[in-house]
Amino acid sequence: MQLLSLHTKNILGLQLPTDPRWVNLAEMQLEEILTDHAYCEQKAATTCITLIQRYSDKEKLVEELSPLVTEEWGHFRTVLAELHKRNLKLGRQRKDEYVNKLIEFQKKGGSPDDRLLDHLLTMALIEARSCERFKRLSEGLDDGYMRKFYRRFMQSEAGHYTLFITLAETYMDKKIVRKRWAEWLAYEKEVMNGLEVRGDRIH
Ligand SMILES: [Fe+2]
Ligand SMILES: [Fe+2]
Repeated sequence: MQLLSLHTKNILGLQLPTDPRWVNLAEMQLEEILTDHAYCEQKAATTCITLIQRYSDKEKLVEELSPLVTEEWGHFRTVLAELHKRNLKLGRQRKDEYVNKLIEFQKKGGSPDDRLLDHLLTMALIEARSCERFKRLSEGLDDGYMRKFYRRFMQSEAGHYTLFITLAETYMDKKIVRKRWAEWLAYEKEVMNGLEVRGDRIH
């Protein structure tokens, strides 16, 4: 296995690097990983559509998230094609404990701005963690084809993380965004610590 780059350890401000055992477990369960990954892409596309519906008055958000829907749906189709190539089926969606835990941290009351901020930062965090996981796969898998396969996803998701942070800064004061982002990062560390290391999940 290749050594992990320093960049992976510190990627995108995440406070807890993925447990190194995860790649080895994932390698043994590629079908489950591909299925879980496909649904992550589907949820990314669906959530972007929901955000466009909910914040239809925010022009920049609509402008930026519209092409993202297409891109995430393209990712879904790429993963689906990879499953089919291997004579595997999509299968059923699993409970997404990671995302459910993140949603628990979203402010329930609060102002519309607070809610928008938390929606955008939740997405930024999922993109950042996905990016880190794809980077792990792109560096740690033995299969060269799959390393390249995940490298392309890693590059896309890194751009998405930045997009959601930039959108938050479009509608909110940068200082407020930074403060809340730090709270999210600290919370995500606890979530990751509390989750079992499983090779059949992207998160
Ligand atoms: Fe994606
Ligand atoms: Fe994404």
